[in-house]
Amino acid sequence: MNKRIGILTAGGDSPGLNAAIRGVGKAAGGIYGMHIVGFRDGFRGLVDNRTVDLDRNALSGVLTIGGTILGTSRDKPHKMKIGGRVQDMTDVIVENYHANHLDALVCLGGGGTQKNALELMKKGLNILTLPKTIDNDVALTDTTFGFDTALGIATEAIDRLHSTAHSHHRIIVVEIMGHRAGWLALGSGIAGGADVILLPEIPYSLEAVAEAITGRVKSGKNFSIVAVSEGAMDVEQAAEIERLTQAMAAAEKAGDKKARKQAKSRLKALEAGQGDHTLQLAHKLEALTGLESRPTILGHVQRGGTPSAVDRLLATRLGAACASLINDGVSGVMVAARGERAEPVPLEKVAGNKKVVPPDHPWVNTARRMGVCLGESL
Ligand code: F6P
Repeated sequence: MNKRIGILTAGGDSPGLNAAIRGVGKAAGGIYGMHIVGFRDGFRGLVDNRTVDLDRNALSGVLTIGGTILGTSRDKPHKMKIGGRVQDMTDVIVENYHANHLDALVCLGGGGTQKNALELMKKGLNILTLPKTIDNDVALTDTTFGFDTALGIATEAIDRLHSTAHSHHRIIVVEIMGHRAGWLALGSGIAGGADVILLPEIPYSLEAVAEAITGRVKSGKNFSIVAVSEGAMDVEQAAEIERLTQAMAAAEKAGDKKARKQAKSRLKALEAGQGDHTLQLAHKLEALTGLESRPTILGHVQRGGTPSAVDRLLATRLGAACASLINDGVSGVMVAARGERAEPVPLEKVAGNKKVVPPDHPWVNTARRMGVCLGESL
């Protein structure tokens, strides 16, 4: 009998999701004669059993469209808000999987989705995942779809900011998405010729940044572009986070619930304070350098619109490879990009691991060689 497969998109949307859905669907339906059922709004649609038939017609004309035709959400199967109460809905998901007579479920998502998918796999479901996120931080894949498009958008924004920064002799601090991984800020910062690039992986010294900017003024360049990741932090803040994380782990080990709670709420408060980091940084740099300074937050513009050709190609080849793997009876894997190949990697190895920027990564070394200030202490 022909197989039936389910598909959903979870977590933040990303350009290329529709290309991936189409890649899975066209290959699964067209070559292997499978029936494809889409679930609306991530894992929530699987709980509510809100489905859509992804036949040839439904998959037509979606390749170039941004966002996801299925809708998405950040809902987690084991911690879902239902009627004002947080509940574990994994058993309902298992029921609906079987009620739809699925042979496999394909989950398209980033790091959080990989973890959720692993939990469902442990419940006995045949799960495959595809790596999407503009952050490019999914482990064990060369890259994720969505990253290339966002890289292009952020680079174009930096290009545009250059002319206005130059005309007004200002510092422009441009915030680029990426809470825990700085790939997007690093890539677009290099491609856009930013003068300073600040990443979550390399805590910065404010003085070092100010000095780099005043050094440019001395050499006749009285404007600067500072590309800063959402999650970048200064050395003091990074040390405090490290201290609290260790305190939490020690309290956990000692079974001291009160101390753990205290450290956790302090950590949360610190993260909440990160919300206006870019604005604060712009103010501080203005005070330290005497140059007028403006913050620009690119925000969700980076996630919207038409996927680039590179993302369409990547999403299509991973999606099509996923259909072949399902046909071969493979599950419990993420379909990773490895060079020109699409390779299955065990979900256990992906889930819970984040691909952050190594401080000695070739891109980091390139930035250093270009004379870019990474905020490293003087
Ligand atoms: O995970 C992708 C991402 O775009 C991050 O770069 C960003 O920090 C986050 O999502 C924003 O999430 P939301 O759309 O839920 O505000």
